[in-house]
Amino acid sequence: MDQAETLLKIMKEKQSKGTTKSHAGPRIITISSGKGGVGKTNVSTNLAINMAKLGKEVVVMDADLGLANVNVMLGIIPKYNLYNVLKGQKTISEVITDTPEGIKIIAGASGFSQLADLNHEQKANFVRDIEKLDSVDVVFIDTGAGISDNVLSFVVAADEVIIVTTPEPTAITDAYGIIKTIASKKIESNIKLIVNRVQSENEANKVAERVINIANQFLGVKVENLGFIYEDSIVSKSVIKQRPFFEVDPKSKASLCITDICLRLEQLDVPHQRKKGLAGFFSSFLNYYKEKKHNELEYE
Ligand SMILES: Nc1ncnc2c1ncn2[C@@H]1O[C@H](COP(=O)(O)OP(=O)(O)O)[C@@H](O)[C@H]1O
Ligand SMILES: [Mg+2]
Repeated sequence: MDQAETLLKIMKEKQSKGTTKSHAGPRIITISSGKGGVGKTNVSTNLAINMAKLGKEVVVMDADLGLANVNVMLGIIPKYNLYNVLKGQKTISEVITDTPEGIKIIAGASGFSQLADLNHEQKANFVRDIEKLDSVDVVFIDTGAGISDNVLSFVVAADEVIIVTTPEPTAITDAYGIIKTIASKKIESNIKLIVNRVQSENEANKVAERVINIANQFLGVKVENLGFIYEDSIVSKSVIKQRPFFEVDPKSKASLCITDICLRLEQLDVPHQRKKGLAGFFSSFLNYYKEKKHNELEYE
């Protein structure tokens, strides 16, 4: 049986047991990296599309400031973004965009640090609205690179974080850097690694082993190997066409790797570890900015 069939089988079994949708809300996965341009947006978008094709309801939230590129990759121009929802100017259903690929996207925003100042009523309204999304199966949050607040607030709030790296030494060093920061901010991080743009499985395993061993040895952090993606010319060709490569050719080298990763993610799904839905997620998210403001005031 090939990987795609195995995946479909696992998902059908889960659906018949009624375990894919839990009252705990969607599985929330933040995708990040130390170095920029390593493939985060391609990974989030194509993983999301693969899952949607297997019958899951998937949302991709674009949290990369300035480089709002999930929509660019899909050739879509959203009018409003998450910030408008947090400010109470728009409802979540007004900012969510359906795509022909079967996933939904929410555009990124700036100015989240001001959210520490939201009053009780604004927060309550936001939570009531965002809970409407709790029937979704998976939310991927595509962040920027590095250790800015905009990245860390999403990383800290999510149940799981996927770090993407390439085999380049600079990318590996930066991946270690962000894992170190995550480890210092949050004790129970569930960190997973994807090695992108590899020439061989052997190369991927060497890179993954190195990151996993160093994180374990020096930080006492367990990083899980989620898999790898081959260097494949279909990726940049698809980006230029503004069509995700999984859609262009689901059997391409890169697409088959996405399916492998999808399978491993399904196998690693542990619903009871989840927080309390999107309301719980955003409560941790807002808390990040509240604590930051609190600490700044203390040092003044
Ligand atoms: N597996 C791959 N094979 C070939 N090129 C890739 C691969 N992954 C990424 N790229 C190239 O890297 C570029 C940046 O990818 P992107 O997903 O936008 O990275 P990030 O979101 O981390 O900045 C892509 O436009 C593509 O040209
Ligand atoms: Mg990106």
